[in-house]
Amino acid sequence: MSSKDKVLELLEKNKNTYISGEAIASSLGISRNAIWKAINELRKQGYVIEAVNKKGYRLGESNDIISAQGILSNMDRNIDSALIHIFDTLDSTNKTAKEMAMDGICHGSLVIARSQTIGKGRGTHSFYSPEGGIYMSVILSPEMLPTLEPDVITAYTGITVSDSIESLTGLSPKIKPINDLFIDGRKVCGILTESGIEFDSGMVQWIVVGIGINFDSDISQFPEDLQSIVGSLFKNGQAPISKNQLIAEIYSHLLDWSQVNKEQILKKFNERLI
Ligand code: BTN
Repeated sequence: MSSKDKVLELLEKNKNTYISGEAIASSLGISRNAIWKAINELRKQGYVIEAVNKKGYRLGESNDIISAQGILSNMDRNIDSALIHIFDTLDSTNKTAKEMAMDGICHGSLVIARSQTIGKGRGTHSFYSPEGGIYMSVILSPEMLPTLEPDVITAYTGITVSDSIESLTGLSPKIKPINDLFIDGRKVCGILTESGIEFDSGMVQWIVVGIGINFDSDISQFPEDLQSIVGSLFKNGQAPISKNQLIAEIYSHLLDWSQVNKEQILKKFNERLI
C-alpha cells in the first residue's frame, strides 16, 4: 500500500478527529515529509483535510469520496484491499465485473464506479447513473453459496441492501419484485443479478450482483421521464452518512452467505414487499 493510501486509511478510521503528525508517523512508520506529501496528494484528489498547529490533521465528516480505505475503515472484519476495484467512471460495473469473473477473478471481488455511462438495468432497460449514486457489483463463486436458486439470491440481495439502509439511516425501503427498492413511492435502488453458465454442462460458473442506489443524487438533473418515478435516499449534499459506510455495510452482508437460511430469507422478503 502506498504512503498516501496508508495515511488515507488512518484518517478515515479516525474521521473527524485530529491526529498529530507524530502519531501518524509512528503508527505508519513513515517520515513527516512523506505524510505532508501524502496529505497534499489527497487534497489534490478533493479531500478536505484540516491541518492545525499542535493538533495535527483531521479529515472532516463532510468528505464523501468513495475509496477502498474508506470502505475498509467502516468494515468489522479484515478484507484484502486488493478485492476492491474503484473507478471514477465505467460504462457498467456489472460489465467490468463479468469480464473479471471470466478472467478468473475471485469470489468477493467488488467493482465500484463513481458514475456509469451505460448503467445496465434488467432486460433492455438502462440505469441512469450520474455522480451522487452508488454503483457496485460483487462477484460471487457458486461453490461459496449455499444455494443457486435465483429467487433466494435475488431476495437475499434485496433484503441485504434494505436492511443496510435501514440500520444506518432509519429509512425503511420496500421491495417491489423482482428487486426494486422504493421509499415513499419512489424507486431509490435497482438490483441486477447476472450469471455465467457453461453451455455444455449447464453449470453456473460465476454470479455478479449489481446494485445501483440513488444516494444523494440531484434528481432535478435526471431525465424528465424519470423525475416523477425515482427518488434519492438523501437530498443532494445532505447525507448524514457517507457512501463508504453504506457500501461497507452492504458488502459485509453480501459476504455472509454461509449464514443464509432460505426460509428466513423468503419470510423477510415477504415482510418487505411493497
Ligand atoms: C434495474 O433497475 O433494472 C436494475 C438496475 C441495476 C443497476 C446496477 S448499478 C451497478 C450495476 N452495474 C450496472 O450496469 N447495473 C447494475
